[in-house]
Amino acid sequence: MTKTIFNKLIVFAFLSFTSLVYMSCQPDRVLKDAVLNLPSTPFDYTNVKTPNGLIDLSSMISNGFGDEKKIDEEATLGRVLFYDKLLSINNSVSCGSCHNQKLGFADGAQFSTGFANKKTHRNTLSLANTLDEIALFWDSRAADAQEMSLMPVFDHLEMGMESEEMLVAKVAKTEYYAPLFDKAFGSSEITKGKITTAIATFLNTMVSKNSRFDAGKLNPEEALGLNLFQDKALCMNCHSLGVPQRSSGGYNNHFSPIRGTANIGLDKIYADEGVGGGSFRIPNLRNVSVTGPYMHDGRYTSLEQVIEHYNSGLRDNAQLDPIFRNANGSIKKLNLTQVEKKALEAFLATLTDDSFIADPKFSNPFN
Ligand code: HEC
Ligand code: HEC
Repeated sequence: MTKTIFNKLIVFAFLSFTSLVYMSCQPDRVLKDAVLNLPSTPFDYTNVKTPNGLIDLSSMISNGFGDEKKIDEEATLGRVLFYDKLLSINNSVSCGSCHNQKLGFADGAQFSTGFANKKTHRNTLSLANTLDEIALFWDSRAADAQEMSLMPVFDHLEMGMESEEMLVAKVAKTEYYAPLFDKAFGSSEITKGKITTAIATFLNTMVSKNSRFDAGKLNPEEALGLNLFQDKALCMNCHSLGVPQRSSGGYNNHFSPIRGTANIGLDKIYADEGVGGGSFRIPNLRNVSVTGPYMHDGRYTSLEQVIEHYNSGLRDNAQLDPIFRNANGSIKKLNLTQVEKKALEAFLATLTDDSFIADPKFSNPFN
């Protein structure tokens, strides 16, 4: 009798000891409370809802080779990686920590907080229609999602991973990944290339094309705002509102040309010169009402301030975009009335796509 209890105690002690050892070999245990919740059939990532029916993305996402099922599985894996804090060196941040879906995948803060509590040097960009962009980041330093998708992981401020091997090893020892890689790539082997592709596919499926603007249902004030945006206020010389459409000849947008980068006279002398001389990527204005603060340094907290900047606040510098100059070289004043400024702001609010910012297929699967 006593012997059995003693034996049981030994077994118990042994089990506790082994599980302790096991746990201490698993730094990822921090995340043990995070339960991965995926739908039994993957979400449909290739068909995007618009007011005029569905857009089929499958031919635009080259990684999937037009195979809808493969794209759905890749995006599913990409979604898990996007929200997995394991991708940072100390399991403290994921892509989703800075890119918040409810805020159009921007961050509500001027600068975001990385894995070691240090701040990023620039304002977090919103994510939508990445597929549509000719280049990514405020200084256009990456060509597309495939090229950029692991940059934040190895960034010393953002996620701090030290090497490819470290990343692959961490993902490989996390049990839920093998089946997800298998479904997406036909083999459970985990490589950096597959991680990159899966995140890129997820980013490329983040298409926002279901706003009130897309539906063409603008009230008179908003319609006045659109008119100003296209004409008197000069906005559409730079900011496109179009649909993602990549043709073999490069970028093709039915709505307006995207010009890449520009200097909009934020400063006389720029502390951060962007691509050079204070020129920065012309950002996407999708969901802009919820993506503030604004500009590369998050200096403006409201759209009202942004509009006032263009209306009366341009600071002259040698690189200032010529569109803002009169024929004699002086700086144009838009002379917008109070009513016009409000209308412009009301128009910008119609670019918010409520279905996109609440779509479960882009939401955090850990809960
Ligand atoms: C610590 C906060 C932080 C984390 C974590 C983070 N990002 Fe970002 N992200 C930013 C900032 C800041 C920028 C703008 C940086 C710049 O342009 O120099 C940015 C820019 C981007 C862009 C460019 C968007 C555009 O329109 O040009 C993409 C895409 C992106 N991030 C995706 C990701 C992915 C994928 C991950 C995870 C692997 C991630 N981010 C993790 C803060 C973060
Ligand atoms: C010459 C090209 C150009 C014109 C014209 C222009 N913009 Fe911009 N816009 C930019 C660039 C470039 C940035 C980013 C500047 C930076 O951060 O340094 C920007 C930033 C913005 C932002 C901040 C977006 C964010 O995510 O931080 C908003 C909002 C905006 N513009 C709205 C407008 C409106 C409204 C108009 C018309 C009144 C307009 N823009 C005219 C090029 C332009």
